[in-house]
Amino acid sequence: ARPLVIDTDPGIDDALAILLALGSPEVDLRLVTTVHGNVELPQTTDNALRVLHLAGRSDVPVAAGAAESLVFPQPERAGHVHGVTGLGGVELPPSPAAVDPRPAVVALAELLMASDEPVTVAAIGPWTNVALLLGTYPEAAARIGRLVLMGGSAGRGGNVTAAAEFNVWSDPEAAARVLGSTIPTVLVGLDVTIPTVLDEDGVARFAAAGPVGATAAAILQQYLDHARTAYGTSGVVVHDALALTEAIAPGTLGTVRRDVVVDTGNGPSRGQTLVDRRSVSDSPTAVDVAETVDSAAAVEFLVARLAGLAAR
Ligand code: BDR
Ligand code: CA
Repeated sequence: ARPLVIDTDPGIDDALAILLALGSPEVDLRLVTTVHGNVELPQTTDNALRVLHLAGRSDVPVAAGAAESLVFPQPERAGHVHGVTGLGGVELPPSPAAVDPRPAVVALAELLMASDEPVTVAAIGPWTNVALLLGTYPEAAARIGRLVLMGGSAGRGGNVTAAAEFNVWSDPEAAARVLGSTIPTVLVGLDVTIPTVLDEDGVARFAAAGPVGATAAAILQQYLDHARTAYGTSGVVVHDALALTEAIAPGTLGTVRRDVVVDTGNGPSRGQTLVDRRSVSDSPTAVDVAETVDSAAAVEFLVARLAGLAAR
């Protein structure tokens, strides 16, 4: 199995993404690093520990990272989307495991330097930790085999402002640094996540498979309500879980190599990803932008893996 690290701000869809990874034999989740984002860092860290414990995997280390964005404080958390505790109002049992004493970037750098195999890093919160890794341990960052980023938008506008997607908007300076790196990167943005809707039948399938599935379904309830108002969908838009699907099964998404820059100005499009779709790029900093998705297949993958995990 390929070594995997998830950098995350759980978060309802983050929780689903972590469970998806745990239910997928292709990857070996070696480390979870947490970041501020949907809610404050102490809460995202505690949520990550609890989600791993829910799946019986409190052996996976959790290291806490950045409590705030690189330059400016994130303008607003997303408690209105994810619930004040970040997990849709569901109270998961506390984990017996303690948080790893190392800062996230140290834990990540040590893992990257020690691994004989290429490590996939999936960053599904604001990209502050990844930017800090690039700045503080560049030789370790250069060893990332594949960086799968959830965030941005090529042609769909934003979800938190008219222009910007939440993860990029939360820390545009970090996003600019990360997208300016030469790490092999896949950008999974709103163009592919918004059309990928998990409907109630899908939820019912893993909810019926066992207690882990039933708990995952309960967590999703809040997100279901949000998706209806925010995206007009009668199902859940599971952004982070789709990014994890691409991390687990490379090639799930149709990608094109593009130049991408981030608006770090203070105007109305702060945090917008500007994807140059005029041409395919061969620049070393170009990223593989996800542009097409077979949403039905991606949702089936997610449901089957969660049902399998819940049935264990
Ligand atoms: C992203 O924003 C967060 O609220 C979600 O967890 C996801 O990572 C989608 O824009
Ligand atoms: Ca997230």
